[in-house]
Formats: sequence, C-alpha cells, structure tokens
Amino acid sequence: MKEERYLTFALTKGRLANKTLELLEEVGITCEEIKDKDSRKLIFVNEELKLKFFLAKGPDVPTYVEYGAADIGVTGKDELLEEGRRVYEVLDLGFGKCRMCVCGPASARELLQHHERIRVASKYPVIAKDYFYNKKFQTVDIIKLNGSVELGPIVGLSDVIVDIVETGSTLRENGLEVLEEICPLSARMIVNQVSMQMQQERIKSLILKLRQKLG
Ligand code: PRP
Repeated sequence: MKEERYLTFALTKGRLANKTLELLEEVGITCEEIKDKDSRKLIFVNEELKLKFFLAKGPDVPTYVEYGAADIGVTGKDELLEEGRRVYEVLDLGFGKCRMCVCGPASARELLQHHERIRVASKYPVIAKDYFYNKKFQTVDIIKLNGSVELGPIVGLSDVIVDIVETGSTLRENGLEVLEEICPLSARMIVNQVSMQMQQERIKSLILKLRQKLG
C-alpha cells in the first residue's frame, strides 16, 4: 500500500477549536496530544490516521489554507468574508453562530436612513465597506479597530460600528443596539484548492461523514 501523506488541519484557537475537536471526535478523528492544556507545542499529530493539527488566529486560518500550509481549516464566516482568500468553503459546521451587524446608539438610526457620510468603526473594514458601498450605496468613512469596537460610538470616535453580535449583552451593557443586520455567521470548514484535487478521496470522505453527523 502506498504511504499516505499527512493531512494538515488549521483550527481557530479557542472555543471554535474545542467545538471542532468535539465534532471530529464524533466521526472517529481524535488527537490526544492537543487536549493537554499545559503543552506549549504548536503542532499536534495523530500518527495512526496521518493527521496533523495546528492552532492559529482566526484571520490567519484562510491564509494557511490558501497557501497549502494546511489542507483543511475551520474558522468563522466573518474571517472568510474579510480575508477573501481563494479556498473552497465546503461545510457550515453550525456552531459559533452569531450575526454581523451595524450597531450604535438608537439616535444613529436616522443617520443610516438618510445616507449621511458617517464614521464606521470596525475590526472588519472589508465587510463594512462592502455593505455600505455596494449594498446600501452610502459613502462612509471606515475606521479600522482591533477590538473592543463598542467603544467607538461611546467615546465619539465613530457614529456606528460593524461588529459581531452573539448574545447582544455587550451592546446592552454599553447602551448600544443592533441597527441593521448584515449577515448571519457560523463556523465553516474550508479546503485548499489543490488538496481538494490531490487528496480528493480522503477529504471527500471526511466531508461526507461530517455532513451525515451534522444532519
Ligand atoms: C466579540 C464582538 C463583540 C462581542 C459580542 O468580541 O466583537 O464585542 O464578542 O458578543 P455578545 O453579543 O455575546 O456580547 P470579542 O469577545 O471577540 O472581543 P473583542 O471585542 O476584543 O473583539
């Protein structure tokens, strides 16, 4: 029998990785090494199944997959939209559900209706720009932030924000609300375009098993 090469998975550090590993375990793919929380290792191997796993930051997962450093990746739809990488999106894993929204104080609602030139703060400038320019035909100034975006309207940096809303509690606790919904989000499985051809059998059978599990 020919020696199989390793299939490499890039997972998003944190909750998404834990959920992904739980799901993979349900279809018989385990990685004991990765469960050791004290380990400082970056790459984890399942020798028997010829699989490797590594953990990366969400926005970097599509990059690793596009370049072929990982064959398969799991990250949020938000990162896929923002990064615009050439990868195949093959599965909606159904967890990590949230929404990309325009949020702000109730008083900003009017600014959105009258197509005013407003300031929009976001960790997702590509998504924000696409929404305002191509869907709403509204010219706005986009300000890139790297986190705690809710501060934007509170301290007067921006009129509104484009951000992820999950439970809505961050907004509520800061006197902000959802003004418009841009799109629903969830964790997605992506595949490198060359790997999809060269490792077709293994990857397709994995997708099939996961699809059956997800129902
Ligand atoms: C995300 C997002 C919101 C919050 C939404 O931030 O940017 O701030 O979660 O969740 P909620 O609707 O359940 O309150 P994250 O915790 O990733 O940190 P960040 O603000 O540093 O981006």
